[in-house]
Amino acid sequence: NQQVATNVKYEMRHVSREKRAQILGSGERRFRGCTVWFTGLSGAGKTTISFALEEFLVSNGIPAYSLDGDNMRTGLNKNLGFSKEDREENIRRISEVSKLFADAGHICLCSFVSPFKEDRDRSRKAHEESNLPFFEVFVDTPIEVCEERDVKGLYKKAREGTIKGFTGVDQEYQKPEHPELVLKTAKTPIEDSVQLVVEMLIENGIIP
Ligand code: PPS
Ligand code: MG
Repeated sequence: NQQVATNVKYEMRHVSREKRAQILGSGERRFRGCTVWFTGLSGAGKTTISFALEEFLVSNGIPAYSLDGDNMRTGLNKNLGFSKEDREENIRRISEVSKLFADAGHICLCSFVSPFKEDRDRSRKAHEESNLPFFEVFVDTPIEVCEERDVKGLYKKAREGTIKGFTGVDQEYQKPEHPELVLKTAKTPIEDSVQLVVEMLIENGIIP
């Protein structure tokens, strides 16, 4: 697509992050904007953990918002498929959206397969360049377990060949090399996984 916008320049808003934090939040309500990026195979437990964590944080008065693969793909990213290029664009857009949430002071919880290291690293870098904390959480569930769960019946379809380019079956998943946290959902109850993420956020001074 060659029709990219020209004559466009970034306009600075009047409300800096510091000003927003100072006025909208102090003490217990101070600025906590960051991104928690869950990556892992389909059926690993990304959505489940992210949604449970969102519920926990919001119940405790901490602004958090979940962005999820299946949901974003019915809206903002409905024109994208699962080729390497489309997944890259999917992650690029989500990364930009999560930066906006984080900049606005939310804990943005992203649950995307995001199988390519390059795409996840680009998201991390984009956050770092904007001085926004970024935590990569590897939801490390063996494919055998995901396939055994097969909650959506997608592995069955992928094995039959009705879905092409399915992560872990006929497209690769590149494991994170240095994630901030690894969750082993095959052996860990959901509540314990949520607790581990909460502890990571406490240790990093994001939540009290
Ligand atoms: S990606 O790789 O990050 O762009 O994918 P994502 O946006 O997270 O979308 C993954 C969800 O789409 C469904 N689905 C597939 N996943 C992987 N590979 C293929 N080919 C595919 N086709 C459909 C599936 O419901 C994924 O959701 P989760 O929750 O991970 O199972
Ligand atoms: Mg999901």
